[in-house]
Amino acid sequence: MALPNKPEGERKAVRDPEVDEREVDVLIVGGGMAACGAAFEVKKWLGDDQSVLLVDKAAMERSGAVAQGLSAINTYLGENTSDDYVRMVRNDLMGIVREDLIFDLGTHVDDSVHLFEEWGLPVWKKTDEGKNMDGKKGLKLGTLKSGAQPVRTGKWQIMINGESYKRIVAEAAKLAIGEDNILERVFIVELLLDKNKENQIAGAVGFSVRENKVFIIKAKTMMVACGGAVNIYQPRSVGEGKGRAWYPVWNAGSTYTLAMKVGAELSMMENRFTPARFKDGYGPVGAWFLLFKAKALNGLGEVYVTSDAAKNELERYAPYGTAAITPTCLRNHLMLFEMKEGRGPIQMDTVTALAELGKSMDKKELKHLESEAWEDFLDMTCGQANLWCATNTEPEKKNSEIMPTEPYLLGSHSGCCGLWTSGPDYDWVPDSYKIKADNGKVYNRMTTVYGLFTSGDGVGCSGHKFSSGSHAEGRVAAKQMVRYAKDHADYKPELPMSKEEIVDLVYKPVRVFLDNYEYTTDIDINPAYIKPSGMALRLMKATNEYGAGHQTYYETTSKMLEIVMDQLRVMREDCEKLAAGDLHELMRAWEIYHRIWTVESHLRHIQYRKETRYPGFYYQADYPKQDDENWFCFTNSKYDPKTGEWDTFKRDYVQIIPD
Ligand code: FAD
Ligand code: ADX
Repeated sequence: MALPNKPEGERKAVRDPEVDEREVDVLIVGGGMAACGAAFEVKKWLGDDQSVLLVDKAAMERSGAVAQGLSAINTYLGENTSDDYVRMVRNDLMGIVREDLIFDLGTHVDDSVHLFEEWGLPVWKKTDEGKNMDGKKGLKLGTLKSGAQPVRTGKWQIMINGESYKRIVAEAAKLAIGEDNILERVFIVELLLDKNKENQIAGAVGFSVRENKVFIIKAKTMMVACGGAVNIYQPRSVGEGKGRAWYPVWNAGSTYTLAMKVGAELSMMENRFTPARFKDGYGPVGAWFLLFKAKALNGLGEVYVTSDAAKNELERYAPYGTAAITPTCLRNHLMLFEMKEGRGPIQMDTVTALAELGKSMDKKELKHLESEAWEDFLDMTCGQANLWCATNTEPEKKNSEIMPTEPYLLGSHSGCCGLWTSGPDYDWVPDSYKIKADNGKVYNRMTTVYGLFTSGDGVGCSGHKFSSGSHAEGRVAAKQMVRYAKDHADYKPELPMSKEEIVDLVYKPVRVFLDNYEYTTDIDINPAYIKPSGMALRLMKATNEYGAGHQTYYETTSKMLEIVMDQLRVMREDCEKLAAGDLHELMRAWEIYHRIWTVESHLRHIQYRKETRYPGFYYQADYPKQDDENWFCFTNSKYDPKTGEWDTFKRDYVQIIPD
């Protein structure tokens, strides 16, 4: 259960916290879409004698990327096939994806969408006359499951009234798993391997951000689904707008850091998502492009995407660039190309789009259309609607600028970095895509660490799952975790660290602070420590300048990568001196630590892959081309927790679904 907010302000951290020790069969780390899927599913399969616990750093009802709500579900197959879904994802991600994982997801995702509707999420419906019905009117037309038609924006996306999406999904998850089996406001810091069994997950440790308490949780099996990584690069927003980013600021790369530090193999960490968004407010563009059919204009007012120059650019990246739907990174590339050629800034032509749609509408319908335009943002990025108000922007009268943002790392949206996981144990899945546990069995979505699973943003090489797919994948993983726990009923996890050592680790920043804070008059400036906020600025400056941030138009070079890798090494060393005076700051300290590890793995992968696979997301200026001959493969890496050494290597891509 979530502990109440702090009426007296941030709670001071004490030197010696209480310790709460638990042991369960199945542990779910995270409370977002994937974790809610897992929580909803897990008890159906769990035996009466088996236990489960879910741990979220925030309150599930508004945690993770769906916190503000969404205005669309971006993956609903409906009349489409899983084969086609694979083809779409493969093309958007420039060819190198895990088709087994994507196909598998395609066969499960609609069931989650049907559940959302059953739980009360309003899905827009299309009438026989082709009119869009949202809210209660949409509900009257029946459910998707009963055959009602959704309002499709693109081939895969459907519109929803989704301001309360996360609340609805979290409520179902909580009811299914039971409040007693949930810890909210508990931040997981590290995972631990078993003391006796090689490469076997055994537990997780963390702390409460509401009371001075360290948690030590042993588990037979575990899913880590803490979303993607945000604020690893300097955001474009500054000063008063700094807290705003596109993906959720509280997802700090924990998924990747927690798993990589126990030796789980990562895949395609070089991939990132640099989204094009409404400038300064980060409003998503999908509904504008797909539902309202708006066009992007360059600074000269031209529809640049159909120009000869754009065509030439896209041909350089065939066959993806020349496909019917231009991949997301190449859409960005065209935008950056215009800007660099002196034809910026780029505008979303909201005025023409709304005027065109309005032509066939009466006054009432027109008013509704305008409210839909606002609702798109009010449902999922309300800051953009605020910005429109603050800047006197009426979209039917004034166009808005769009702009590639800072980079984000994620595996569920239009990116595909993450962990290398097992595919399903079907005969059509190549052996190289199956990971066997110690008992020789294959467990779908298990990482290379025995008993450690992931889903949503955590699963690499299979993007375009979005909210619905992350939920469905969490359900798939939950079922497999229960199977794993049953197959390992005799396994008794033993941790490699004592209770005291764990407390020393988790509360180290608090002790660094308490030992030194009296030395200076300004609590934030001290020769003996660094505060997390200072470290965050240091990290963002380094990655933005050298690691292909927006400062250099997303370009880096081998030399720049060398520089930033060295800076990151020093930052990791300096993390020993992170200081936290209160519990919120303790969370910030661990978040920045997770961010540094995550972005380091991202840059290590970029350094290894000597080509530019995702132009528009990032460029390696000394390897500017797509090099299929040498790099049409997965790039994987593994950190060895025993030696502290990294290994980066290739894994073969296998095409399963024909073109
Ligand atoms: P999340 O849902 O982000 O969940 C991560 C969870 O981990 C959170 O509960 C968090 O509190 C917890 N956590 C993090 N670190 C820790 C830690 N160390 N310890 C414990 N818990 C931790 N999808 C669509 O389908 N349609 C859309 O229109 C759409 N629009 C979007 C718009 C925006 C602005 C954003 C941000 C996302 C959008 N998405 C959309 C994508 C969708 O939200 C994600 O794909 C999905 O939420 C990913 O699920 P997840 O479970 O992997 O991560
Ligand atoms: S959102 O999830 O934050 O809303 P976004 O607005 O980028 O993301 O995209 C929503 C959906 O529309 C995604 O499925 C994305 O791939 C798709 N999309 C966005 N812009 C375009 C476009 N210009 N052409 C085709 N698909 C697009």
